[in-house]
Amino acid sequence: MKNKVVDLLSQYIDGFEKAELESIIEIPPKPEMGDFAFPCFKLAKVYHKAPPLIAKELSEKIEQPDFLSEIRVMGGYLNFFVDKSQYAKKIVDNYLNSDNYGGSDEGSGKTICIDYSSPNVAKNFHVGHLRTTIIGNSIYKIYEKLGYHVERINHLGDWGTQFGKLIVAYKRWGSKEAVETNGISELMSIYVKFHDEAEKEPSLNDEARAWFTKMEHGDEEALSIWKWFRDISLKEFLRVYDMLGIEFDSYAGESFYNDKMAAVIEELKDKGLITVSDGAQIVNLDEYNMPPCLITKKDGSSLYATRDISAALYRKKTYDFSKCIYVTGLEQKLHFAQWFKVIELMGYDWYKDLIHVPYGLVSLKGGKLSTRHGNVIYAEDILKESIQKIESIIEEKNPELPDKETVAKQVGIGAILFNTLYNQRIKDVVFDWEKILNFDGETGPYVQYTYARAASVLRKIGDYDTTIDYSLLTDEASMALLKEIERYSAVVKDAADKLEPSIIARYAVDLAQSFNKFYHDCQINVEDTNIKYTRANIVAITKSILKDALGLLGMTCPEQM
Ligand code: ARG
Repeated sequence: MKNKVVDLLSQYIDGFEKAELESIIEIPPKPEMGDFAFPCFKLAKVYHKAPPLIAKELSEKIEQPDFLSEIRVMGGYLNFFVDKSQYAKKIVDNYLNSDNYGGSDEGSGKTICIDYSSPNVAKNFHVGHLRTTIIGNSIYKIYEKLGYHVERINHLGDWGTQFGKLIVAYKRWGSKEAVETNGISELMSIYVKFHDEAEKEPSLNDEARAWFTKMEHGDEEALSIWKWFRDISLKEFLRVYDMLGIEFDSYAGESFYNDKMAAVIEELKDKGLITVSDGAQIVNLDEYNMPPCLITKKDGSSLYATRDISAALYRKKTYDFSKCIYVTGLEQKLHFAQWFKVIELMGYDWYKDLIHVPYGLVSLKGGKLSTRHGNVIYAEDILKESIQKIESIIEEKNPELPDKETVAKQVGIGAILFNTLYNQRIKDVVFDWEKILNFDGETGPYVQYTYARAASVLRKIGDYDTTIDYSLLTDEASMALLKEIERYSAVVKDAADKLEPSIIARYAVDLAQSFNKFYHDCQINVEDTNIKYTRANIVAITKSILKDALGLLGMTCPEQM
């Protein structure tokens, strides 16, 4: 509508670009002042006339088009009143004519790689990893909605000197049974023991290095223990993914690049980028005000960055991505900046398509989720706790609810997803159960509850037909709801461009709030079928967009709550 007003104005105003006219247009503070206001002050300077006079002259010249019901001079402003039923019709038609409302095909033929979750084998899946998992999954859904092909990559931390340490620890203090029964937590505890013991007996470190070297050279025993640790860890990770309903296309973790790094190191040497420092091979980044990027240690073993560089080259070759996105905590910012620079120095112009998407810390209200010694809270425990808490709320408030277990899962998990995504990702997230699970706040449960309310309205109405009387949609609450509905595509696009799922989460709350106001102000299930059917259609549209928006956050919606 704004564009239409701009088009209209541009026919009558010389010397101003459309973009400029658009930037001048304002939204009046009160509905009775119309839908758009065009202040004539800027024109006054150019035309050397008083703004009210310009407004008056314009109003006399402009031929009122169909989509407007009135053009009114208000002081130095020209105010436009949209023909509301026309406007409503346009929005609804837009919705009805689209099979992917809110989406587009801008990404068709293009591939995006998203590297997210990527937990470390033999370490617990902690709440920080929960955040990359949830943000990455949402970014995947958003891009998919825009028609991109997305490769979901779990770059498992399954390689590195720590596995040498683990093998030593296992051989000294571990037992098959304990690892089999206690999984990751057993591996973590023998790993801690290794560090304690290595302080007293430093030669343990040499032993560990030797085992990792064996791994790098394909030693069978070393690799079979390593693989066993990896399988055990993956099994635990999969439990979390399963609870979240998240899948990956690739689990090619750091180990996958073991046989691909030599060629990359050769290439770096050929391109004259390697400096040897203290036996280690590095890429000096002084010129770019960054510490050097470490490529090999002095014993020749590879590092985190070496594997990331190899992975990027491999992905470019394999997927020909138009963007490769990495979702990790902010503390890895420098790491990514360093090796992105190395890719640039190697002469690959696609370095600019590598995007680091950082996020802030997670903490627990009244407690701490992570300590200086690592993250201690398991993601799985948080998810289970959330489901249990919702179960007891249901038990208390609505014990007759059918299929309580499924609903508790949808809402319990949804609450965590929503809370993780509601604030800008760079901000820290606080786990405050009271807030997360509040059905009246800006929360997952609130939006899901609104969805269930829409579902219940439609159940009560039963059959209705799709004829809509647009003149019945011109009241304030209906209009406000329609404006939210109209905004969806722009919201999805904005979220994709900014890699910011919070934009969708906030929109979901806005849409839910407008719906609840509509529900309150406009009785739906009335005698008059004209009114009833018209409103039922709007309820159905809102319901489907709520579901779609929450789907972009990775959430599902119960029909009854
Ligand atoms: N495994 C790393 C960690 O847990 C995250 C890996 C992120 N992805 C990457 N390609 N570096 O911190």
